[in-house]
Amino acid sequence: MRYTFFMPSKWKESRLNAAQKRALVWGLAAFILCLVMNAYHYSLQGAKGLYIWNRTGMFRAFILMGFVPIGIALLSFPLDKLKSKTPAKIFRGSAIVLSILVGAASLGILGFLFLGPRSGSLEQTRIVLVNPSKGISRVNLGEAAFSAGGKVASGSKAETVQAGAPKPSLRISISSDPHWGVESSDASARSEILASISEHKPDVFFMLGDTVETGSQVGEWNSALTDLEALLPKTPLRPLLGNHDALFGGQYLFKKAFFPKGLSSDSGSPYYYSIVDPAATFIVLDLPWGTEEFKGAQKSWLMAALKKANRAKPIVVLSHSYFYASGYDDPGLDKPWYDHYQDIPAIVPILREYGVSLVVSGHNHYQEFLQKDGVSYAVIGAMGGIPDPAPAHLSLASKWLAVSTFGRLDVDFYEGRMVLSFRDAAGTLLHEETIAQQR
Ligand SMILES: [Fe+2]
Repeated sequence: MRYTFFMPSKWKESRLNAAQKRALVWGLAAFILCLVMNAYHYSLQGAKGLYIWNRTGMFRAFILMGFVPIGIALLSFPLDKLKSKTPAKIFRGSAIVLSILVGAASLGILGFLFLGPRSGSLEQTRIVLVNPSKGISRVNLGEAAFSAGGKVASGSKAETVQAGAPKPSLRISISSDPHWGVESSDASARSEILASISEHKPDVFFMLGDTVETGSQVGEWNSALTDLEALLPKTPLRPLLGNHDALFGGQYLFKKAFFPKGLSSDSGSPYYYSIVDPAATFIVLDLPWGTEEFKGAQKSWLMAALKKANRAKPIVVLSHSYFYASGYDDPGLDKPWYDHYQDIPAIVPILREYGVSLVVSGHNHYQEFLQKDGVSYAVIGAMGGIPDPAPAHLSLASKWLAVSTFGRLDVDFYEGRMVLSFRDAAGTLLHEETIAQQR
């Protein structure tokens, strides 16, 4: 079938001249390059959070710059009606120059985001990674330590067990925010924590994100891997993705380091999944900044995973960004850094509905224990990242808080209860809580 198009005579008259077309094509090319760059960046883990939380305006400028050359090219059109052609020529010339600049900047940023994490190679280290779909194996501590009393781990900092003390069915350690790769982090505290965990011999050590300062830097990941291999050679490790790990395409290196080929999860994602254990169900959420990644697929998966979970045993949620937490107003950020304004309304009602017992997170560089509406919350961003200032806002849910104290949290699972032990870097007990299993 043939189609004939009717074109009003006015349109024919207003055909673009060669100079107008040239400016428009340049502007359009710059706009498309800028769009592609922003779409790629926005598709990366944690990038949406940068656009929302950061006050610098740099990320918003990345989007807006695409509109400038094409806008100036369009503005030149009415100027052609002037007697003098100079203003139109200046506008079109500027549009072309700006198109070249915006196009080059977009290509440069795209190259930085894609090639940055891919330049250099990761150290081949022999750390023991927990495969979420395979669950948690038990580290054999020996029955004798629990039946006759003794030490649960060798070394001077080992915890003494009372004779006849029941043996926990599962022992986990958790810490977050070590921030390898930045001078301001306390490397000696970080090493002391790792050595102390190695002595404690938990069945798994969950590291809740911000392993490195800048996720796109291969060297920072290599420092982390080298230390983990040297100081924690046998403890099974399960790291989560933090907002710093995700920076500028860091997800590529996170996956290579901590979720390599051969590992799998029930969700199909390396960032959120459940780990089902006879002692508890662990739900790992992908919340690097807040709920930017908690849309569609992750939300439906969470509902299904919680429905399936064994409610006779504790359900423990692990995430990088916190829910209830004390904090402060960071002048460099656009949003409050306490009692999370996104995570609480979007996710807490779901956690309460399905009887989640405990939520452990990092992101804030404190140790804190909180309780709200029957759910316990712990913040353990104390693995060496620069301590956050004393909180200007104390959460109403807060029960215990330690500022400027590095350390970890141990959780021991017994029949009907969990025992939480907040420890300093050397492993000394700072605070203990028992959470009874709701029936
Ligand atoms: Fe952090």
